[in-house]
Amino acid sequence: MAKSMINEQVHSAAAAGTFTIGGDLTVNRLGYGAMRITGPGIWGPPADEDSALATLRRAIDLGVNLVDTADSYGPAVSEELIAKALYPYPSDLVIATKGGWERPGPGQWTHNAGPRHLAESLEGSLKRLRLDRIDVYQLHAPDNVVSWEASIEALAKLRDQGKIRHIGVSNVIREHVERARRIVPIVSVQNRYSFADRESDFIVDYCEQHSIAFLPWAPLGQAQEAHEALKKVAQDLEASPLQVALAWLLKRSRVILPIPGTSSVKHLEENLAAASLELPQAEYDELSAVSLPATGLRD
Ligand SMILES: NC(=O)c1ccc[n+]([C@@H]2O[C@H](COP(=O)([O-])OP(=O)(O)OC[C@H]3O[C@@H](n4cnc5c(N)ncnc54)[C@H](OP(=O)(O)O)[C@@H]3O)[C@@H](O)[C@H]2O)c1
Repeated sequence: MAKSMINEQVHSAAAAGTFTIGGDLTVNRLGYGAMRITGPGIWGPPADEDSALATLRRAIDLGVNLVDTADSYGPAVSEELIAKALYPYPSDLVIATKGGWERPGPGQWTHNAGPRHLAESLEGSLKRLRLDRIDVYQLHAPDNVVSWEASIEALAKLRDQGKIRHIGVSNVIREHVERARRIVPIVSVQNRYSFADRESDFIVDYCEQHSIAFLPWAPLGQAQEAHEALKKVAQDLEASPLQVALAWLLKRSRVILPIPGTSSVKHLEENLAAASLELPQAEYDELSAVSLPATGLRD
């Protein structure tokens, strides 16, 4: 990545402003996705555990107070490293984890969002994260062989038991969110979304309308070759294309909380510098008008 003006100083996630999740959890809008601190294929331990722990600690030093993870990252590895690096946690740290989508091998996923499995997954996350209650517990994905209502009712029950503070959903269409909200308050939606992939545009609008947090996964488009339009704006602003992509997300909606994933302190610092990058309206409009091909992302 090219050296940029905004990378010449250390920047805090706080510069992105704040959003209050579920009416009581105020976080800085630029968070951190902890999927990339596992081994290759989101499987097993990282090659360099010290570097993974340093990345997590640096995120907190730089004002990140929203960390996204899941029981399936590793599996278990990401949650265990979060606890190892950060416990006892800062009082303002929100850890958003997920259950209901298993990782049986490198690069593989299996649906498993039945009530019994969700209860077991939650217990595992509580133990690994050393918590009595998960601040934001997200249903990782709808399960084709379990009714959506049954999965959400199971989470609502666990919330009633005090083990979950707030419930979020992931990899959903708007109908899922609407049906879930008839059962229990839904505070967040996590779908794939970035400058290069706007398939979930209408859900972002829905979340904004209802003040639901929207956590775009793959907010950097998984750092694939940047679009020419991003490169051009980046050059004008003396920033990097990935920083512009994050600044575009932050401007797209007040409810968007990007969670860029990285296993490197250097990349983390570059990404968090985007919190301080002011994307002028004209450049934002120009980027928003770009027509984009399908992305073909991996996870
Ligand atoms: N709900 C879901 O189904 C779902 C699915 C996928 C991800 N997620 C969550 O969303 C988070 C973000 O998604 P993601 O990690 O797939 O994609 P991403 O944030 O778009 O991109 C991550 C990739 O970009 C690289 N990268 C990060 N910063 C960089 C920089 N400054 N310069 C160059 N390369 C950089 C990372 O490699 P390095 O490690 O080398 O930096 C990694 O390969 C995950 O960590 C996870 O918490 C959720």
